[in-house]
Amino acid sequence: MSQWSTLTFTLPSSRLVGLEGPLTELAPDGMQIDDGATLTGKDLPDGMSRVILYVPAGDGSRAQTALQSLAADRGLSFEVLQQDLEERDWNAEWKAHYKPLRIGRRLRVEPVFDRPTPDPELISIVIDPGMAFGTGTHETTQLAATALEAWIDGQKAHGAQLSGQTLLDVGTGSGILSIAALKLGFGAAVGTEIDEPGLENTRDNAALNGVGGRLKLHLTDDPDSLGSARYPLVLANIISSILKRLKASLIDRVQPGGTLIVSGVLAEERDSFVNAFADPRLTLMADQVDGDWMALTYLRS
Ligand SMILES: C[S@@+](CC[C@H](N)C(=O)[O-])C[C@H]1O[C@@H](n2cnc3c(N)ncnc32)[C@H](O)[C@@H]1O
Repeated sequence: MSQWSTLTFTLPSSRLVGLEGPLTELAPDGMQIDDGATLTGKDLPDGMSRVILYVPAGDGSRAQTALQSLAADRGLSFEVLQQDLEERDWNAEWKAHYKPLRIGRRLRVEPVFDRPTPDPELISIVIDPGMAFGTGTHETTQLAATALEAWIDGQKAHGAQLSGQTLLDVGTGSGILSIAALKLGFGAAVGTEIDEPGLENTRDNAALNGVGGRLKLHLTDDPDSLGSARYPLVLANIISSILKRLKASLIDRVQPGGTLIVSGVLAEERDSFVNAFADPRLTLMADQVDGDWMALTYLRS
């Protein structure tokens, strides 16, 4: 029996503004938005988007009701098609679409089955497709990786030695950010995750990149459970509702003078997020936007 249901609907792309956040809350396990510019949306007419929400099979009717009430609140009307997901060879589909991808200044994410010729100017991050989030294609990952690389470049420009330092990667997913940090010079990384099945994929990715011995993984939903250790750099690419919930634990894990990089914030939520995340110990140093998403870099006093 299928474990997942999909809820699919089509609406004018302009009406998606402001909807992406609530839809992510409704289907935190997965959402796909297609339009004429995406690989899987070539069939859509100009100006229209198709949204596919992935929800656990038993949760389809509840999600359908919540979706209809969200639509009604916003004066929207669309037909929702609910289907049980066919068992498909997701790896084969993924392989057909996933290509090497440049991120930041010199990072290149490479699918394990499609490694390009090595380039001495680039740092390869090899990813094996699996259940864990973080193939590099999502804007939130790209924003976090770019902010991470910029931070590391800044530290090196000031003569900092990172090889003796450890970073914390909250919501590590595929491990992509930790792997990037380790290949850019960090000595060790600690990753936290709530998705136990995905952690096997994280371990495989770390091993593929030759950093398996330097990435320590913890199955936990709160970095407080790591104890009193503090880190010069804490990364957290998680949806903003969770970032806000974890605010105190995240700040506590950053050593004084250290940096906290958060990604997964919708650009339209910037002001409310910055207000909710305000803390006397934090100074907002930079923010970057990519499409609908943004990442923010804070210095901790
Ligand atoms: C947006 S993905 C980011 C994955 C990867 N770090 C990247 O940048 O591509 C967020 C990840 O956080 C995990 N997650 C969600 N809530 C969490 C929590 N409270 N603590 C740790 N991980 C969490 C999810 O399972 C998911 O793998």
